[in-house]
Amino acid sequence: MSSSPSSTSSVLLNTGVQMPLLGLGTYKLWGPEDVHRAVDAALAAGYRAFDSAAVYKNEADLGRALRELLPKYGLTREDVFITSKLGPKDQGEKAMQGALHSLSQLDLDYIDLYLIHWPGTQGLVVADQRNPGNRAESWAALEELHSQGRLKAIGVSNYTPAHMRELVQTCRISPAVLQVEFHPRLCQAELRSVCAEYGVCFQAYSSLGKGELVTDPRVTEVAKNCARTPAQVLLRWAVQQDVPVLPKSSNADRIKENARLFDFTLSDMDMDRLSALDCGHKYCWDPSERSSLRTWRSLPSMWMGFRQPKQAVKLVTHPPELLAVFHGRPQRRRSRLGPPPEWSSVGGRTGFLVPPGQELLVS
Ligand SMILES: NC(=O)c1ccc[n+]([C@@H]2O[C@H](COP(=O)([O-])OP(=O)(O)OC[C@H]3O[C@@H](n4cnc5c(N)ncnc54)[C@H](OP(=O)(O)O)[C@@H]3O)[C@@H](O)[C@H]2O)c1
Repeated sequence: MSSSPSSTSSVLLNTGVQMPLLGLGTYKLWGPEDVHRAVDAALAAGYRAFDSAAVYKNEADLGRALRELLPKYGLTREDVFITSKLGPKDQGEKAMQGALHSLSQLDLDYIDLYLIHWPGTQGLVVADQRNPGNRAESWAALEELHSQGRLKAIGVSNYTPAHMRELVQTCRISPAVLQVEFHPRLCQAELRSVCAEYGVCFQAYSSLGKGELVTDPRVTEVAKNCARTPAQVLLRWAVQQDVPVLPKSSNADRIKENARLFDFTLSDMDMDRLSALDCGHKYCWDPSERSSLRTWRSLPSMWMGFRQPKQAVKLVTHPPELLAVFHGRPQRRRSRLGPPPEWSSVGGRTGFLVPPGQELLVS
């Protein structure tokens, strides 16, 4: 394990291009002002990479913010690395159109890295036999746009080891990146070894456990030892293993704090103490449990009466049905189309049952 600070702040992709180890996550950065403010703070703090996605609905705001702000820092398009992702609704035959839409929303000639966001297709259950074909069709579209120079690197996100093996056995162009959830409580040993085997860069998302890990006493203790903040320690733990990170913050001070990763080192003992937290815990969605990101609006209309379902719901499989589990009871109001679904309790969890063939999202 490395015991000196990374000598470089980027990683070499299998396309021959360098990708910054630090990027700004933009999920839940919404609206032109918020995006502009965050991008401004990030550029000032030295960030040169930005992670967006069609489902974040901020590609246009990110593109505009960069156009407005790059000159302020004496930078050009070539100085920044922009990632976006194909929405699960466009998986398959609509993939080309989806990727071109991202390019047009960002208003860019090219995107540095474009990922298939999710292995499933919106509206299909995990076991649906159409999923593998849709994944292959999406990948072929990305390969085509890569050949045209419009997507400089292509990759995937939330793929399991089985999805990765399926892809490398059939692709013409190897994936450059796999972006998945990664932090001390989810060390992803198998996925990392699959990526190493196939020469794919393993990239982390939710390094701060969506903000929840920064208060873990075992993390705060390591932070205290090295006189750094918990967030810096969590991010340093990843980059010290050459894993690129994408911390999201809407706060200028925290954006700056999260960038101070390359002027200190965690001792081998502290690295091991953090890695010992591994327990397979996911703060985000789980591709083995949910087939696809679906929007709330795609729920049967009878169930559209819940307010603020986003962030409040997690799906767990309970064959042959899915149990939507709410963290904190969501507010609900009666729908004119029918009563809300019945609450159920399965395995000690309370939620409502989604019949086979129906799913709901969560993003
Ligand atoms: N491919 C995928 O499926 C996928 C899934 C999830 C995420 N991602 C990408 O990865 C990025 C990061 O993941 P994430 O947004 O899930 O979570 P994250 O970066 O682990 O955590 C973000 C949360 O931590 C808070 N935070 C940020 N810096 C902090 C600090 N220094 N101290 C304390 N709290 C801090 C933020 O609040 P404030 O904003 O108030 O600072 C926010 O609530 C996303 O934005 C997205 O770009 C990709």
